[in-house]
Amino acid sequence: MAVLKPGETLMGLSLAFGGHLTHGAPKTFSSTFFRSVQYELKKDGTFDWAAIEKLAKKEKPKLIICGFTAYPRIIDFKKFAEIADKVGAFLLADISHIAGLVVAGVHPSPIAHAHIVTTTTHKTLRGPRGAIIMVTNKGLKKDPDLGKKIDSAIIPGLQGGPHDNQTAAIAVALKEASSAAFKKYAEQIVANSKALAKELNGYGFDLVSGGSDNHLILIDLRNRGVNGSVAALALEAAGIVVNKNGVPFDPNPPFYPAGIRLGTPAITTRGMREREMVKIAKWFEMVIKEVENEKLPTNKEERSKFIKDFKIRVAKNKKLAKIASEVRGFCKKFPEP
Ligand SMILES: Cc1ncc(COP(=O)(O)O)c(C=O)c1O
Repeated sequence: MAVLKPGETLMGLSLAFGGHLTHGAPKTFSSTFFRSVQYELKKDGTFDWAAIEKLAKKEKPKLIICGFTAYPRIIDFKKFAEIADKVGAFLLADISHIAGLVVAGVHPSPIAHAHIVTTTTHKTLRGPRGAIIMVTNKGLKKDPDLGKKIDSAIIPGLQGGPHDNQTAAIAVALKEASSAAFKKYAEQIVANSKALAKELNGYGFDLVSGGSDNHLILIDLRNRGVNGSVAALALEAAGIVVNKNGVPFDPNPPFYPAGIRLGTPAITTRGMREREMVKIAKWFEMVIKEVENEKLPTNKEERSKFIKDFKIRVAKNKKLAKIASEVRGFCKKFPEP
């Protein structure tokens, strides 16, 4: 609302490829009130810079958004900035997922490259649910009133009054995030993610982009013949919580995607390290093996009945119950702080 008039064009990564709903996905404010153009990833799960530049030159968006929801690699903010600058667009870096890693210096910062940087405060930043919008020096150079425009887009544009309790809680989170202990925490998140990715690769899991540079791993389960929704339910029955997730060029509908997404921030907070990732990956393999014959029907009508019955089957599955009991014992050694 600060940089676009209704109907003007924004460009973001498609939801199906790991972009966020608010980056121009259908049915959201970002595509209802604005004209949304979406870029995608290559087959290997990385960016096709020539295609993104070509799209930007053709569509001339006023705003380009980078920063993602399901992208396991380092984001090259400089490359996005070069494209945005070529077409005169504002570049917004939404670092919601990686803000804690950026603060700790384990992921490059977008501050020198973007005009606007946004983040939620409840992901790797490990704070309360909330958000921050930052205008960079580059942003002020492009439009000296950008800060004021964003302020008034919030109040009165979208909000009536401030949520002071939330702002105070964010301040506490930021103080924590500036400590040496937090830097160590963020470094361990990435070390754990890399270790878990390596173990999962070893079991033959097909990791999108081949691995992870940050806090998350995206697995394409098609080579195991298990649907993401089936895998997520089985893992949860075994005490391992992940979410079903689409993968690039996913042939399945969003409700039954081909993959799952998992992250290491919470287990790192509990004190788990590389050694524990070896154990987790082993349980992972055992669970997926156990449900490899559970084929999701291709027929739309049969699918919901299958999932309903599958939930009953997994609740009664003795192997999964045994793993769940081991996971429970394991977690007791790593209590929540
Ligand atoms: C890139 C990105 N931006 C923004 C958000 C918004 O977060 P929430 O809806 O949890 O406030 C998310 C959440 O997943 C995200 O991944």
